[in-house]
Amino acid sequence: MAVGIFDSGLGGLTVLEAAQKRLPDVDFIYLADSAHAPYGVRTADDIYELTCAAVLRLFDAGCDLVILACNTASAAALRRMQEGSIPEGKRVLGVFVPLIEALTERDWGDNSPPREVDVKHVALFATPATVSSRAFQRELAFRAIGVDVEAQACGGVVDAIEDGDFVLAEAMVQRHVDALHCKMPFPQAAILGCTHYPLMHDTFQKALGPKVKIFSQARLVAESLADYLQRHPDKMGTDTKGKFLTTGDPVEVSQRATQFLKRPLTFQSA
Ligand code: DGL
Repeated sequence: MAVGIFDSGLGGLTVLEAAQKRLPDVDFIYLADSAHAPYGVRTADDIYELTCAAVLRLFDAGCDLVILACNTASAAALRRMQEGSIPEGKRVLGVFVPLIEALTERDWGDNSPPREVDVKHVALFATPATVSSRAFQRELAFRAIGVDVEAQACGGVVDAIEDGDFVLAEAMVQRHVDALHCKMPFPQAAILGCTHYPLMHDTFQKALGPKVKIFSQARLVAESLADYLQRHPDKMGTDTKGKFLTTGDPVEVSQRATQFLKRPLTFQSA
């Protein structure tokens, strides 16, 4: 019983951890494409090719359902994959939908026309590729009107986190929040639109101030996965044990991952 969780690197571990807490009986196969991270500075075509290869690897490992625990892959590749390259019986889901459901307080199945929602000024922090895709704004427009979204491309933050340099990551978060404030002085809510950023949650909150409500994906995605698996129990895969795979150096990646989640994790070569 294994569900695939994919990220370019270690950020998706934030989603994995929440999913494991919510679904303790489900096994997960986590794949980090560490050899090619970060994705956020790559072209959409590049991200699409890398994401397809990673998802195929997870299908080969026995997963019938793969969660793209990566906004950059969800933004640049998911729609294109869903339009043609997913084999019969397999399913790939992204991480935007649960976030937009939470922000707009609507269920995705609610197909009524877009309407006004409580939050009017939203700051979106994401990788350069996610920001330039405008995927978040596009999906939001199907659900809500009158929401002003100011996006801040947070170049460098993922690299610093992947390198374990949290002092640099903090400085960069502060700089990106300052840049956001120049464009939108009083956001009501902030979206951490990259699965690496929950690791910097407190830094974002401090820089944004206590009044700004921060939405981050881990718990929302875990909840939505639980709901999905209840409706599609066949997608849990069969007789497949959980494991951690990386396209990078397994020793180095295991060390970093252990540092992030504060529990021992052992990666093997993908
Ligand atoms: N954690 C990823 C995301 O949610 C990937 C970041 C990257 O590789 O640049 O966007």
